[in-house]
Amino acid sequence: MTALVGAFSIILAIFLSLPAGSSSHDLQIVNAERRIDVSSHIVKTFLTLKVENTGKNSVPNMLLAFPPTQITHLATVQAMATVGKKKKKPTYLPLDVKPTDQPDAPSDTGYFSILFAKPLGPGETLSLEVLYILTHSLEPFPAEISESEPQLVYYHDSAVILSPYHIKQQTTFIKMPSVKVESFTSVEPANRAGKEIKYGPYENRPPYSYAPIIIHFENSSPFAVVEELVREIEISHWGSLQITESYRLAHGGARHKGVFSRVEYQSRHSLSGASSFKNLLAVLPPRVDSVYYRDEIGNISSSRLRTGFRKSELEIEPRYPLLGGWRATFVIGYRVPLEDFLFESPDGRRYLNFTFGCPLVETVVDKLTVKVVLPEGSRDPSAVVPFPVGQDLEVKYSYLDVVGRTVLVLKKNNTVPTHNVPFQVYYTFKPIFMLAEPFMLVSAFFLFFVASLAYIHIDLTIGGK
Ligand SMILES: *[C@@H]1O[C@H](CO)[C@@H](O)[C@H](O)[C@H]1NC(C)=O
Ligand SMILES: *[C@@H]1O[C@H](CO)[C@@H](O)[C@H](O)[C@H]1NC(C)=O
Repeated sequence: MTALVGAFSIILAIFLSLPAGSSSHDLQIVNAERRIDVSSHIVKTFLTLKVENTGKNSVPNMLLAFPPTQITHLATVQAMATVGKKKKKPTYLPLDVKPTDQPDAPSDTGYFSILFAKPLGPGETLSLEVLYILTHSLEPFPAEISESEPQLVYYHDSAVILSPYHIKQQTTFIKMPSVKVESFTSVEPANRAGKEIKYGPYENRPPYSYAPIIIHFENSSPFAVVEELVREIEISHWGSLQITESYRLAHGGARHKGVFSRVEYQSRHSLSGASSFKNLLAVLPPRVDSVYYRDEIGNISSSRLRTGFRKSELEIEPRYPLLGGWRATFVIGYRVPLEDFLFESPDGRRYLNFTFGCPLVETVVDKLTVKVVLPEGSRDPSAVVPFPVGQDLEVKYSYLDVVGRTVLVLKKNNTVPTHNVPFQVYYTFKPIFMLAEPFMLVSAFFLFFVASLAYIHIDLTIGGK
C-alpha cells in the first residue's frame, strides 16, 4: 500500500515537474508592456514583449497563456517579431500563431504557441508585438437600463500578465472610452489619469502569477453584434459580381427596460438612448452599383451612399433605433465590376480576390457564412484564407442553369474587423460553358418554333379536310 502511494507520488512528481512548454524554463520575459483598449465593445490588447533565452538550448517557440474566461472569447491572436533597432525604423515580421494544448495546464488555462522565425539561441533576446482581440467580454452592469440611463459595464482581467514564464518587469495600461470610471480594483501601484488606468510597474513575477481586477465604467459605444451574417458572392462571367448580405443584427449591450417612446427618443437623443444606435456604416468596394437595403417589409430608403476612389461608404438606418437587446434583420445587396475582383492565375485557373469578414464597422459577427457562387461549369474550387475556416460545397440552381452552380461555403465564428482581409477562391472553367445559357435560350426558342410549326401544320391539315 505504501509502495503504491510512493509510486503514485513519484509519478505525480514527474508529472508536475513536466515543463509547460518543452522548454518553458529556458525563457523569461525581460520586459512586458500591455495596452488594453476597452473603448468599444471589441477589446483589443497589444503586448510588447522582450523575451530572453536564459537556458542552454535553442528554443523554437513561446507560449501565450489565457485564463478560461478569455479563451472562449478570443477572436484572433497575431504576433510579429520586431526586427532592427527600435529607435530607427523597425520592421515587423509576422509569425505563425497556433492554439496548442498543454497537458499540465493549471485550471483550464488556454495556450497559443508563437513559432519564432528561427530558434532563439542561448543568451539571445527577441522583441515581439502581439495583438489579441476579445469579443463579448464587457458585461453590462446593471444588466437592464432605461432609455435615459448610461450604459455601465464590467471588465475582468488580471493586473499582471498570465504567463508560463517569469516576467522581470511589466506594466499594463487600460484605455477607457471616457473619464467616467465608477471603480477599479487597485493592485499597488495602480492609478488613473484621465481616460487611462495604469497597473504597475511590477517586478519579478513568477510564472502563472495572477491578480484579478474588475473595472466598472461607462461605455456607450454601439454594441453592434451581428448574430448571423450570410454573404453570397455570385460570379457571373457576363460582367459583374452580385453580393447579397443577410444580417441578423442585435444590440449586445444592457437590455432596454420600460417602454420606448420614439418622440422622446427623437427629441432628446443627446440625453436619452445614449447606448442605442440609429445608424451603421458599411464599407463597400469602390465602383459599387445597384445598391439596395431592405428588410421583410420592403426597401428602406434611409440610407446614404458615398462612392469613392478607394472605397464606398453606405450609411444605413434601420426602421427603428436599436436599444439594448433589440434585433433587426435586413439585407444589403450590391454589384461590383467583375474585372476588379476576378483574375487569371499563371496556371490558367481563374480566381476571385475579395474581402472576407463583415463590411459593417466595429462589429462582431458571431456566425459568418461566406458563399461563393461560381459560374456554371466551374470545377475544383479551392479557397485561400489566411486563418482557419470551415469549408463545404453546395450546388445552386438558378434560372436557365443546366447543371447547377458550384457554391463554395466558408464558415467562421466570432469574427472581428481584423478578419476583413483579402481571400481567394481558385477554380477551373471551360469557356464552352459560357454558351450554356444562350444555348438554353436558343433551344427553348427553337422548340417553341417547332411546336408552333407543328400546330400550324396540324391546323392546316384540319382546315384542308
Ligand atoms: C427596391 O429597390 C430596388 C433597387 O433599387 C428596386 O429594383 C426595387 O424595385 C425596389 N422595390 C420596391 C418594392 O420599391
Ligand atoms: C488581392 O487584393 C489585394 C488588394 O485588394 C491585393 O493586395 C492582393 O495582392 C490580392 N491578392 C491576389 C492573390 O491577387
